Amino acid sequence: MLGTGYLGATHAVCMAELGYDVIGLDVDEAKVARLSAGEVPFFEPGLPELLRKALDSGRLRFTTSYEEVAEFADVHFVCVGTPQSKGSYAADLTYVEAAFSTLAPLLTRPALVVGKSTVPAGTAARMSELVLSLAPSDGVEVAWNPEFLREGFAVEDTLHPDRLVFGVHSAAAEATLRASFAPVIDAGCPVVVTDFATAELVKVAANSFLATKISFINAMAEVCEVVHADVTKLSEALGHDTRIGKRFLHAGLGFGGGCLPKDIRAFMARAEELGAQDALQFLEEVDAINKRRRARAVDLGRELLDGEYAGKRVCVWGAAFKPNSDDIRDSPALDVAAAVQKLGAAVIVYDPEAMGNAKRAYPQLAMAGSALEAARGADIVLLLTEWAEFREMDPAKLATVVSSPRLVDGRNALDPSVWRDAGWTYRALGRP
Ligand code: UDX
Repeated sequence: MLGTGYLGATHAVCMAELGYDVIGLDVDEAKVARLSAGEVPFFEPGLPELLRKALDSGRLRFTTSYEEVAEFADVHFVCVGTPQSKGSYAADLTYVEAAFSTLAPLLTRPALVVGKSTVPAGTAARMSELVLSLAPSDGVEVAWNPEFLREGFAVEDTLHPDRLVFGVHSAAAEATLRASFAPVIDAGCPVVVTDFATAELVKVAANSFLATKISFINAMAEVCEVVHADVTKLSEALGHDTRIGKRFLHAGLGFGGGCLPKDIRAFMARAEELGAQDALQFLEEVDAINKRRRARAVDLGRELLDGEYAGKRVCVWGAAFKPNSDDIRDSPALDVAAAVQKLGAAVIVYDPEAMGNAKRAYPQLAMAGSALEAARGADIVLLLTEWAEFREMDPAKLATVVSSPRLVDGRNALDPSVWRDAGWTYRALGRP
């Protein structure tokens, strides 16, 4: 496994769990040391237990040495990140190119090098040419196997995926991949075998669809706000139509994280390079709707505070981009918190898992050690990430610590009648 971030570390641990002998490589020595000591460097439910089990079994180890992995493995999975480039929509392929070009010259034995990173169409073919030109062994080939895991469900999604996609150029590569996932396939997971470009597109198309579904319901929320309708009921009614389905139809502050926002932007950038920008023009709107929800949440809070944030104490519940994660990449919650602070409020943030990351990225924001501590003396509470802890909060108890019982539910996570009955001024996105 080349790269031990979310994807690589999870995949390495799960492959060991499935019975394979695995080495995880990372250029970051500190990360390798922590993983080797049985410590997962990020929050992912279930992963620490499986990591320790895999280390104890002797089937998993970690290294910083490319020589060691080149000598060891029959199959290499490239799991490095493809973040958004600074100053453009395009994906930054530096880490992908570095992984392929560092490994290839060391491949003196037959091996399949499988890209898992999310990349623009055409990258797999380019990496294949690169590897074939650099590898000393004749038996080296490239394949692409996109990964669809969700943070918070990474173990479940890796051990029991909805589907496996194999982008291959030969029957031998397909056979190697089938052998690499034999327990998953035997358990009934469907396999779709494609060319390279289709395999690359499956991932960005899936994330574009999910982002579009979220922005669709958030656009409906905008309309609901104008006509005083309830988007949560609208979503419930739409979701009963099995052609539409209820998942990813939850209106609120919109999507963030390390995948959806950057993947739709990279997809647009690549389409433009290929002259197909018209096909993806709608993603610009998907992105715009998503950003407008953040601005609307800021406005809603200001309305409740009689038009003025300056001098007010604002409690922000949530920093992670979604619950059950400590990931704050493109987090809607922190975006709103920072915007509110810029408007003159004293902002105090609490998140059950993402405090460390939030402090590092937003040192200007004050942080509290608990949900109630953050709310103490607050003129308004903004619920921006729907952790269970916030959903289960007792409104009467919370009312005793705040200075004024006003709440913006940015995730449609609470029952308005319960909170209003408890004396709260409750407002939510897309709801009367
Ligand atoms: C996503 C894809 O789901 C996954 O398949 C891919 O491999 C990586 O990107 P992830 O980023 O972990 O996974 O988060 P996901 O659960 O998809 O949520 C993305 C964002 O959408 C979150 O900010 C979440 O709060 C938001 N969301 C999700 C909504 O606003 N409404 C919904 O109905 C669902």
